[in-house]
Amino acid sequence: MKWVIRSIFFGVVIAIIVMVYALYQTKTSTCAVVKEGSESGVPLIGGPIKLTTHEGKTFNSDEYKGQYLLVYFGFAFCPDICPTALSNITEALNLLGGDSRNIQPVFITIDPERDSIESLKAYVKNFHPKTLGLTGSQEDIDKHIKMFKVYVSKLESQDKDDKNYLLDHSSIVYLMGRDGVFLKAFSHETEPQAMASKISEIISKDRRKVST
Ligand code: NI
Repeated sequence: MKWVIRSIFFGVVIAIIVMVYALYQTKTSTCAVVKEGSESGVPLIGGPIKLTTHEGKTFNSDEYKGQYLLVYFGFAFCPDICPTALSNITEALNLLGGDSRNIQPVFITIDPERDSIESLKAYVKNFHPKTLGLTGSQEDIDKHIKMFKVYVSKLESQDKDDKNYLLDHSSIVYLMGRDGVFLKAFSHETEPQAMASKISEIISKDRRKVST
């Protein structure tokens, strides 16, 4: 009888060793994958943008390959942060002069409920003439918010029917490269001069890459 207990005991011990080994294997392999991703230095931000412009046209970022996109998420009712970001983008593009030719600024609403095509049309007039306001269904917008890892939180007001609600949101200006890949993030507080010189630096580096 003793040998039966002993073999069960060894069986259990071996099973535990195999399980721990298997677990360890999967752990290390996932670690390796994560490491590879971070070593390549490309954060997983962004993706194909497919929405509707303030002119009612389809916007597809695939059609902007070869150009840089300056992507900003916000909402037209935003009292100060969004206008600051969009004004800084406007000024940076003005400072870039001829280099701004290949840069497309886009403002993606996080508030499609209020930011209709019509209201975006009126809103973008306040900023650089190239600025495209983009909207879509709540589902489409949510998809883009997720893609760019934007933080959005609706600030609940006392009145449930209040249409003057505010949204708390992350305020990042994303520079996407000519291949649609994320290059650099600016804050809404980045000085236009600093933004322009960084973009100009990237553009001339890319130019050198093409010529060599
Ligand atoms: Ni805002």
